[in-house]
Amino acid sequence: DWTSDVFIDASIADLKAKIGSDKVVMGLSGGVDSSVAATLIHRAIGDQLICVFVDNGLLRKNEFEEVLDSYKHMGLNVIGVDAKQKFYDALAGVTDPEAKRKAIGNAFIEVFDEESNKLEGVKWLGQGTIYPDVIESISVKGPSATIKSHHNVGGLPDFMKLSVVEPLNTLFKDEVREVGRALDIVETIIGRHPFPGPGLGIRILGDVTAEKVKTLQEVDHIFIKGLKDSGLYDQVWQAGAMLLPIQSVGVMGDERTYEKVVALRAVGSVDGMTADWIHLPYEFLGKISNDIINKVKGVNRVVYDISSKPPATIEWE
Ligand code: XMP
Repeated sequence: DWTSDVFIDASIADLKAKIGSDKVVMGLSGGVDSSVAATLIHRAIGDQLICVFVDNGLLRKNEFEEVLDSYKHMGLNVIGVDAKQKFYDALAGVTDPEAKRKAIGNAFIEVFDEESNKLEGVKWLGQGTIYPDVIESISVKGPSATIKSHHNVGGLPDFMKLSVVEPLNTLFKDEVREVGRALDIVETIIGRHPFPGPGLGIRILGDVTAEKVKTLQEVDHIFIKGLKDSGLYDQVWQAGAMLLPIQSVGVMGDERTYEKVVALRAVGSVDGMTADWIHLPYEFLGKISNDIINKVKGVNRVVYDISSKPPATIEWE
C-alpha cells in the first residue's frame, strides 16, 4: 500500500543516488506542487538545491513576501527576484489571452535564465510536475507546458538544457498534499487553492496595468480572506475574482459614478477538467460585495459567476 512515509524515504534515496553532489535549480511558484517537490529535494541534497521565486507582479496581495518568508522558514535556499516591472512592460497594450500568456511565459523564461546563469555548475532543473500533468497537461494554455514540451532541445534558454528531476511525477494531488504534510510544510501552502501560472494577468480582462493589478489584488484579498474567515475556503476547490473591461453606472451619495465591475468565481472540482459553480451563501456574497464596493476605489458593482465547466472554463481568459 502507498504511504507518504514510504514514498518519502524511497524518493530521498533515489534523489541522492541520482543527483550525487550536483547542483539543482528550481523555480518556485508558491503553489503546492513546486513547494513539496522543493522540500523533498532539499531533504535529499540540502543546499545543493537553489530555488528561484519570481515576483511577476501578478501574484495575490502580499503573496510574494508571505510565501518567500515561509520558504525561508522551511530552510529552503531561495533567491527572491522582483521582476514586476519587466512583466508589466511585456504586457503593455497586450489584450489577447494567449498573447498575454506568451508574454508572461517569455518574461519568466528570461528572468529564470538570467538567475540560473548566475549560479555555478548547475546540472539539474527541478520541477513540480505531478502525474496528471504527465498524462494530460491541464496547463496547455500556460508557460509551464511550453517549458515541458521543449526541454533538452537546442536553441533554448540555458536552463532548459539541464536534466530534469521531477520527484512528484507519479503522484496525484491528494498524495502530494499528504507528502507535504508529512514533510511538515505549513497548511497555508498545502491547503492552497490552485492558482494559474499567469496569475492575475489572465483575470484582468483586456490589457494589464500595475494599477489594475492593485485594484484586483484588493478585491481578491477581500474575497479570499472572507472565505477563510467564514470557514468556506476549504470547501472550495478554487476561487478568485476577475476585473472586467467594462464600466457601469452607480450612485454614491448624490454623485453618479461610472466605475469598474468585478466578477467573483468559486468552483468545486477534482482536477480542473470539469467544475461546478459553488452555491455560496447569499449572506456571505452580500457581505463580500458590500466590502468590495465600500473599500476598493474604482469598483462600483460585483457579480457572481454561476457558470459550470463545461461549457464555461474556470478562468475567463
Ligand atoms: P480553465 O480556465 O481551463 O482552467 O478551466 C483549468 C485550471 O487550469 C488553470 N489554468 C492555468 N494554469 N497556466 C496555468 O498554470 C495557465 O495558463 C492556466 N490557465 C488556466 C486554472 O486556474 C484552473 O485551475
